[in-house]
Amino acid sequence: MHTLVFATNNAHKAREVEQILGPGFEIKTLKDIGCLEEIEETEATLEGNALLKARYVKEKYGYDCFSEDTGLEVEALDGAPGVHTARYAGEDRSAEANMALLLKNLEGKASRRGRFRTIIALTFGGKETLLEGICMGNITSQKQGLSGFGYDPIFIPEGFDQTFAELGDDVKNQISHRGIATEKFRKLLLAEEGTF
Ligand code: IMP
Repeated sequence: MHTLVFATNNAHKAREVEQILGPGFEIKTLKDIGCLEEIEETEATLEGNALLKARYVKEKYGYDCFSEDTGLEVEALDGAPGVHTARYAGEDRSAEANMALLLKNLEGKASRRGRFRTIIALTFGGKETLLEGICMGNITSQKQGLSGFGYDPIFIPEGFDQTFAELGDDVKNQISHRGIATEKFRKLLLAEEGTF
């Protein structure tokens, strides 16, 4: 059994990855290893922030670690909200306020094209690796659907005519930025099992 730390406080995300990876891997959260301090995301890119968290855990706690960072990048807004996706409308991280601000900022724009981008950073076996998952799509002009979280009600993935919040988790996980990045992660771990 190999223990990996997922640099998150979201136990739900951790169980999800544990299920994807299968027996042989035990996933611990920050709380599980006694890391109760907030790791501040001070970098200007998703890659920088993901690496910062994974390095922090490796250096301070000694565990192999991976972390995940996701942003919504909208073309007509020069890539915003990007690294500010979680706190776009303010520090309270309200999904409703974030969506309302994005819809307002897109009023009158010719393009509503955007993408979700997930970066997974790993510090395993003495090396650092970055994996990326991208899901292209369009921002709607109003909320549609009830499932999911964050910006799901206003994002229609390319090739579909419903939002993530209408498509539901099963469909979403097959095509999403996080699903794609996590699948790359699973393949890499299986290929490297035994070397770390
Ligand atoms: P995190 O890096 O996973 O914390 O994601 C940052 C922010 O991006 C979250 O607070 C959500 O608002 C948004 N986000 C991330 N993934 C998704 C998704 O799959 N659907 C909708 N919003 C998302």
